[in-house]
Amino acid sequence: MKPLIAFLFLLAVVPSGQAQQVGLIANTDGRRTISLDGQWQTIIDPYETGYYDYRYQPSDNGFFKNAKPKTKSDLIEYDFDRSESLKVPGDWNTQADRLLFYEGTIWYKKSFDYQRKLDTRLFVYFGAANYLADVYLNGQKIGRHEGGFTPFNFEITNLVRDTGNFLIVKVDNKRRRDAVPTLMTDWWNYGGLTRQVKLVETPATFVQDYSIQLQKGSLERISGWVKVNGDKLNQRITIRIPEAGVNKSFTTDANGLAAINFDANLKLWSPENPKLYEVTIETETDHVQDQIGFRSIETRGTEILLNGRPIFLRGVCIHEEAPFRGGRAYSREDARTLLGWAKELGANFVRLAHYPHNEFMIREADKMGIMVWSEIPVYWTILWENPATLENAQNQLSEMIARDRNRAAVIIWSMANETPLSNERLSFLRKLIEHARSLDPSRLISAAMERHYVNDTTQMIDDPLGEYLDVLGCNEYVGWYDDLPEKADRLEWKMKYQKPLVMSEFGGDALYGNHGDALTRWTEEYQENLYQHQLGMLKRISFLRGTAPWILMDFRSPRRPLPQIQDFHNRKGLISDRGERKKAFYVMQQFYRELQTTSQK
Ligand code: GCU
Repeated sequence: MKPLIAFLFLLAVVPSGQAQQVGLIANTDGRRTISLDGQWQTIIDPYETGYYDYRYQPSDNGFFKNAKPKTKSDLIEYDFDRSESLKVPGDWNTQADRLLFYEGTIWYKKSFDYQRKLDTRLFVYFGAANYLADVYLNGQKIGRHEGGFTPFNFEITNLVRDTGNFLIVKVDNKRRRDAVPTLMTDWWNYGGLTRQVKLVETPATFVQDYSIQLQKGSLERISGWVKVNGDKLNQRITIRIPEAGVNKSFTTDANGLAAINFDANLKLWSPENPKLYEVTIETETDHVQDQIGFRSIETRGTEILLNGRPIFLRGVCIHEEAPFRGGRAYSREDARTLLGWAKELGANFVRLAHYPHNEFMIREADKMGIMVWSEIPVYWTILWENPATLENAQNQLSEMIARDRNRAAVIIWSMANETPLSNERLSFLRKLIEHARSLDPSRLISAAMERHYVNDTTQMIDDPLGEYLDVLGCNEYVGWYDDLPEKADRLEWKMKYQKPLVMSEFGGDALYGNHGDALTRWTEEYQENLYQHQLGMLKRISFLRGTAPWILMDFRSPRRPLPQIQDFHNRKGLISDRGERKKAFYVMQQFYRELQTTSQK
């Protein structure tokens, strides 16, 4: 299905019965915005008393009303303004000891005044809310969003008033079997308004979204579209890239959509030269500026081609865990620290696991020349046969692509991680792949799969899903969950497909500063030894085109209780959560340095 029509379809699939989300507004940093970050009043509500009555029926008189007693006899059993506050953006778990393990509902309230303007529309935009968010303005429901790692916005033009607005969000991070992700994950279920919240002002008819990238297989043809939203849909659109001497005009159709195609002589984006161009999209009523890089990404047999030339993805996996302070990372500084460490390791690629990370991460990768694998949390054993689960996963995929489709750094969309073989799973994932290709035919599609032994010394990658992917990802833990490190020396790898392989996870745990001999688990020496054997094995795989060890930094996980070693942290980081490099870090760094010198030859 053509991307333009797929985009119109995207508008239609937003859940019914709620104030419609008008489709995601692209590039909010390029617009007039008012931040609502800071302290929000909150009410912890484990029994959802603010939402249901005692018959467990949704109440019309819930906490979203922000009611106040009018007389001394009035009975109101909550009061936001006398309740504790939490910082936004931020997960709630690391803001108060009593909330570390809390999974349930917390109500957030933010009061604000807003001077309304003529011919101006207003939206409230959330970078993310984990997991289920019910949003109310001035006591009225404006929408619901499911999924903890993608942005969403609602229009409030007709609801906002000049003074005394109260925006209330019920955030519920309870895990559910039918959700995405489902009940079991190896990361902390950080809840809350975990990313920025802002008001976005636009003209009555505005540039809502656009795709401006090189056409698949071309190094000079730009093709894409621009979508305006409002009542003046038939408009003239002008795309300007001053530095490249581009000044092209197009016209939108009756739906406000303009297809754009033109040639341009561009410096291509690459890790060595992460060139970003100032791009302006101008209409009769609106003007949006963005910084966009142009590069082509393809495969040819087992090769991955960036701008037509074979590359090796020198990668590392990263969780969206904040360095030093722990908790959900959300800021530009967090992104710069994590990506800076990846660069220090010698990486030109990061696998952002297992969910879309915040926009700062992607924008900084764009600037720093780091290629990105971005993934939706279809993780382990999802409820494959449940249509609502599929729709939820498709929606998260749509939002991930909508936010980052103009980022040159993003080269791979990943559909899933370590999902068990079955026909139901395959058909679920094939639908996701089709959806992704319909929204963005320009990038590579992958997934992190598993392998199996065909005999004691031969690993095979023949997951039927491989048929439908461009790049195959495979997770293996030889030397950690699978026997001891030296086993890697005896292993050979086979693959059913003539496609590039990225080893999307490998590694083992070590507590920084814990020392012993190379066979003593949890020591830096064991991890170092494991990496040495791993790299020996990886170098022997002829169709290997990328590596992403698990993982850059230790991260919190509820599945890791071992006292004085894990303390609810997965310790597979090459760097500790306090930024200390472990011995294995230097083994990996050395390997990437060698690769860099050979690729420069
Ligand atoms: C899995 C999984 C990760 C997990 C890792 C581990 O492969 O994909 O999410 O953290 O293994 O066990 O450390």
